[in-house]
Amino acid sequence: MKILSIETSCDETAVSIVEASGGLESPSFSILGNAIFSQIETHKQYGGVFPMLAKREHAKKLPILLKEVLEQAKMYDNSNISNIVEWGEIENILKREDGLFTDFKDLTEKIVKPDIDVISVTSGPGLEPALWVGISFATALGKIWGIPVIPANHMEGHIASVLTSGSSHIQFPAVALLISGGHTEIVEIQKWGEYKIIGQTLDDAVGEAFDKVARLLGLPYPGGPEISKIAENARNNQVGKIAKLPRPMINSNNYNFSFSGLKTAVLYYIRDHFNSKSESMSENEKADLARDFEDAVVEVLLKKVKSFLDNNNVKTLIIAGGVIANTKIRESFTELVKKYHDLDLKIPTKELSTDNSVMIAFASYLKCLAFPEIINENSKIIANGNLKLK
Ligand code: KG4
Ligand code: ZN
Repeated sequence: MKILSIETSCDETAVSIVEASGGLESPSFSILGNAIFSQIETHKQYGGVFPMLAKREHAKKLPILLKEVLEQAKMYDNSNISNIVEWGEIENILKREDGLFTDFKDLTEKIVKPDIDVISVTSGPGLEPALWVGISFATALGKIWGIPVIPANHMEGHIASVLTSGSSHIQFPAVALLISGGHTEIVEIQKWGEYKIIGQTLDDAVGEAFDKVARLLGLPYPGGPEISKIAENARNNQVGKIAKLPRPMINSNNYNFSFSGLKTAVLYYIRDHFNSKSESMSENEKADLARDFEDAVVEVLLKKVKSFLDNNNVKTLIIAGGVIANTKIRESFTELVKKYHDLDLKIPTKELSTDNSVMIAFASYLKCLAFPEIINENSKIIANGNLKLK
């Protein structure tokens, strides 16, 4: 099955073409085309993602990325005008600033579809104006080409991101720690498509805390990689440890998290020691604080996951979401699983850790296998900013 997948839930516009085969036990994937455009430069000046700008950028970039992946997959053939008839025409129609790609009636007869069987598109969670752009683009293409369009849950995409291209096998029961800019949750998975959230953040998500702490330290958006870089410097250069931040909810008797207090502790630390001016902190002082923040996050994540592993029969530990791009967190969990026999750790490559559309294709393929009826459902796809895993 060849899947065209589209992801526009936040500030990455991503389109890919993935060929999938095999059953639920051992799915196999080959990435035929993959294009991603990061809007970071657009949003940097605001210190965070601006939904209406994100929407506009997605609408501009989607047709361009689509052409790119069709070319990569050798499905876009300039010499064969009947393949994607008059690209300029389809591009003009699809590239609408309002993000509503609906004006395609006269194209339906002209366009011969490429060798794609199904389109999958993220329908949530995320920023609704941004999600709608992807959904209407996907719906328009589905109509033009006469193929099904199926919705995908972005967080299910992150879970599926641990499946590498080639074939990969996940043993159940599994537990997933999802750590992204909008989510921090521990999810029990008995089989594909069956999720139970057993713990989550009561306030800020981990990635959000990274981003906010970076801002307090005067570092650019997105803050995660910046914090990680200077924390690493503190470790390598053996900068003395002074800052001592709290480890929120580390001893609570549940699998929930809270990160907003940790961010506030950083705020107070800068207020009390540097008169609330991060500019007056030396590089070493910033690095020390970033390291202690990162250590606090790691300790809390490890403790919760460890306690779940100690109390449950788990065959696979999945860690996914943008924050798993963090080297310290990757290393700490790799170390932790060594203590457990027969526990398989699955983390995505760094490339598939942060938002991308390959993971959306992976998740959709598994969904088609687990629930084949969705292919024929053909119901209107609705953006849902708060879509939950279930
Ligand atoms: O999954 P993702 O790309 O988007 C969401 O679904 O939210 O995650 C983005 C989050 C951002 O908060 C970003 O700062 C964080 O992942 N992040 C990192 C690192 N790389 C990205 N956090 C810590 N260390 C990193 N290296
Ligand atoms: Zn994400």
